[in-house]
Amino acid sequence: MGKFHYPDLQVCVLAAGRGKRMRSNLPKVLHNVLGRAMIDHILHTVESLRPKGIAVVTGHASELVRQHVGQPVNLEWVIQDKQLGTGHAVKQCEQVIRDVRDVLIVCGDTPLLQIETLATLVDEHRESDADVTVLTAQPENPFGYGRVIRDQHGHVTSIVEEKDASAEQRQISEVSSGIYCVRYDVLFDLLHAIGNRNAQGEYYLPDIVPLALQAGQSVEAVLMHDADEMLGVNDRVHLAHVEDLMQKRIIEDWQRRGVTIEKPDTVRIEASVKIGIDTVIQAGCYLIGSTQIGDECRIGPNAVLVDAWLDDRVNVYAFSHIHSAAVGSDALVGPYARLRPEARLDEGVHIGNFVEVKKAVVGEGSKVNHLAYIGDATIGRNCNIGAGTITCNYDGANKFLTEIGDDVFVGSDTQLVAPVRVGNHATIGAGSTITRDVDAGGLTLSERSEQKHMPNWKRPVKDKR
Ligand code: UD1
Ligand code: MG
Repeated sequence: MGKFHYPDLQVCVLAAGRGKRMRSNLPKVLHNVLGRAMIDHILHTVESLRPKGIAVVTGHASELVRQHVGQPVNLEWVIQDKQLGTGHAVKQCEQVIRDVRDVLIVCGDTPLLQIETLATLVDEHRESDADVTVLTAQPENPFGYGRVIRDQHGHVTSIVEEKDASAEQRQISEVSSGIYCVRYDVLFDLLHAIGNRNAQGEYYLPDIVPLALQAGQSVEAVLMHDADEMLGVNDRVHLAHVEDLMQKRIIEDWQRRGVTIEKPDTVRIEASVKIGIDTVIQAGCYLIGSTQIGDECRIGPNAVLVDAWLDDRVNVYAFSHIHSAAVGSDALVGPYARLRPEARLDEGVHIGNFVEVKKAVVGEGSKVNHLAYIGDATIGRNCNIGAGTITCNYDGANKFLTEIGDDVFVGSDTQLVAPVRVGNHATIGAGSTITRDVDAGGLTLSERSEQKHMPNWKRPVKDKR
């Protein structure tokens, strides 16, 4: 259980906008930041607050967003058919919110937002007993954000959008993050009162600020420390920038938890990856998707791991590629190895250079060290599979299985034409084409062409004319 718990808080996530500037067929909130959709980042953060419920307002391509997120128990979907503004969007939640003290409103396009910041907003809102509290920031460049207008006593009086602001107001460096905590009792009356007479003809959520003051309610502002957290993604330039900032954060987090990361600027570690202590990630590695790495591993340089699972003390050498495969403890992989989906290496397996393994189990202590293809196969324990061995698993139409027992030695350049089985302790001579099952023990080899010697043969020499 997390340390936060707000049972009398309702969260409202605004995600109905189309994100025109993304120029995409995909709704904005489904774009990925470090392998996780923006909507999932924000939902992950607000779920950690453990609020009473979460309402997500969708409109543009709402079906795609719903399909992607699924149906968590405390989440309700709210449709905003026409995107008439942020105030209008929150108003659509009226039917699904009841019996809470406060409503926390966040935007779906701010994936860097941290849970501590939201908790501080809610706590300060409650401590000051405010009706409306807006989270503000002082970014380096306030362009595009709503400016926070304060009176001579320093009290917030309104928020003015960039497009509605005077030249003088645009000089103000404090902006609204678009995130609000509002007392449930007052929220919907305020929302019903807002109009759309502004530069964009929209119902602005920030207009609840002057309306609350007119009604004699209190408005407070909480300034966030790190303005980067509220960076909104509006186009793909922002997307890359936000991804860089999040990558830095994730890498530093793993470093603090005991992972060594060499040349961190060259490494990609996606948001859902997990890494054990004393593991070393070398330069240029890409750790993607749901990859999990145990303790004391060494990865890279330049290895790519996609949805990979590695136990402890695994070495993955340079330029190896592992995708949806599992690697047991103390295994060695690469350099230049490729593990494809459903490859499973047991403890202490060695997979060497230019070896491809697909949908195959390699048993404890077995070695496939050079230039081989192992697909649709099982290999027992303590086998040695020679250089250039190929499981011929495919006849052009169907796939067949190769089953190799324990303690088998397969000589170099052997083709195992599946379906085929090899018994325990068998030895297969180099260069064999195995088309029938191989008995346990003994030596099996396919017939070899006779070896000739021509003692008087002369090597050709280069024509000098
Ligand atoms: C908004 C705020 C601005 C603040 C900024 C912070 C308003 C009017 N402006 O501006 O004060 O500084 O965020 O990033 O609130 N959305 C809907 N339905 C709508 C319109 C928007 O769900 O009808 C959603 C969008 O999907 C988005 C969020 O609301 O997730 C914010 O909308 P956006 O258009 O990005 O507002 P900004 O111009 O960034
Ligand atoms: Mg925005």
